[in-house]
Amino acid sequence: AFNLKGRSFLKIKDFTQRELLHLIDLARDLKRAKYAGLERQMLTGKNICLIFEKTSTRTRCAFEVAARDQGGHVTYLDPSGSQIGHKESMKDTARVLGRMFDAIQFRGKSQSAVEELSEYAGVPVYNGLTDEWHPTQMLADFLTMTEHTEKNRGDISYAYLGDARNNMGHSLLMLGAIMGCDVRIVAPKGLQPEQHVIDDAHQIASKTGARILLTEDPKEGTNGVDFIHTDVWVSMGENVDVWESRIKLLKPYQVNDDLIKGTGNPKTKFMHCLPAFHNRETKIGEEIFQKFGLPALEVTEEVFESERNIAFEQAENRMHTIKAVMVATLG
Ligand code: CP
Ligand code: NVA
Repeated sequence: AFNLKGRSFLKIKDFTQRELLHLIDLARDLKRAKYAGLERQMLTGKNICLIFEKTSTRTRCAFEVAARDQGGHVTYLDPSGSQIGHKESMKDTARVLGRMFDAIQFRGKSQSAVEELSEYAGVPVYNGLTDEWHPTQMLADFLTMTEHTEKNRGDISYAYLGDARNNMGHSLLMLGAIMGCDVRIVAPKGLQPEQHVIDDAHQIASKTGARILLTEDPKEGTNGVDFIHTDVWVSMGENVDVWESRIKLLKPYQVNDDLIKGTGNPKTKFMHCLPAFHNRETKIGEEIFQKFGLPALEVTEEVFESERNIAFEQAENRMHTIKAVMVATLG
């Protein structure tokens, strides 16, 4: 029914609702097949290049395991291990790698870099996160939400709290708009999404029936929701100096027990793309604790370790959904 062969995946806005649903259905099928031991390899002989300018646990492992499950091969390039960026332009890199690989994954700072890579590589390029978008994460998030609700797609409600000007805030707003959901962006004024993203989301929502709420009020924004998403308050590549102002701005948006019980929906689930800062067991957690005396940042230990947390299923679903993207575009 759908032919996504040869397509790049740079931001979710490039795909229609039906195309995204097709990828999510495919991911569900691949997940079932793997669990049943009935997976058929559709990427035999394919070579996939994984370029990481920024660090990763989930995205890298998802691409590696997914490719291997499907009979494909990966080459991992970190910024210090290649010429990219310092010795060779993206345009030249694209023209070289496009002759060797069947597809390229790129994680880095700039959206324009991944777009340029896709323009010149001549093979599918997958955006594994830029400062603006995190499209593969959206497939996993949507699959996970559908697995945790009986509701029809268009009736799903979710809120995103925190820094809504980052890749996750932008992507979750756009996802809700495209999928026709009840989506709430809950953030202080200075950290609401970029205006062009808001405008695009409203325009798409007028066609899909999505309800979009942009609010500074956590109570209003989370009323009745099925899912609460959050993300780190300072993203990769941002200056550590912004922590102080972010904490000041975002403290009222911490996902804690009061907030999650306050939705009035006993089934509200907690989601996070991870990594999360919910205790001191990380370098940043410890530093921030020492400096600001906060035991947790975007989510408390209590919520994170509760039954409501489905972030680890969400993490697993990165692999099934990334596999679907590769199978659909390359298989
Ligand atoms: N959620 C996510 O992209 O995780 P990684 O940074 O570990 O890839
Ligand atoms: N907003 C986060 C997401 C990490 C998966 C970051 O860009 O660091």
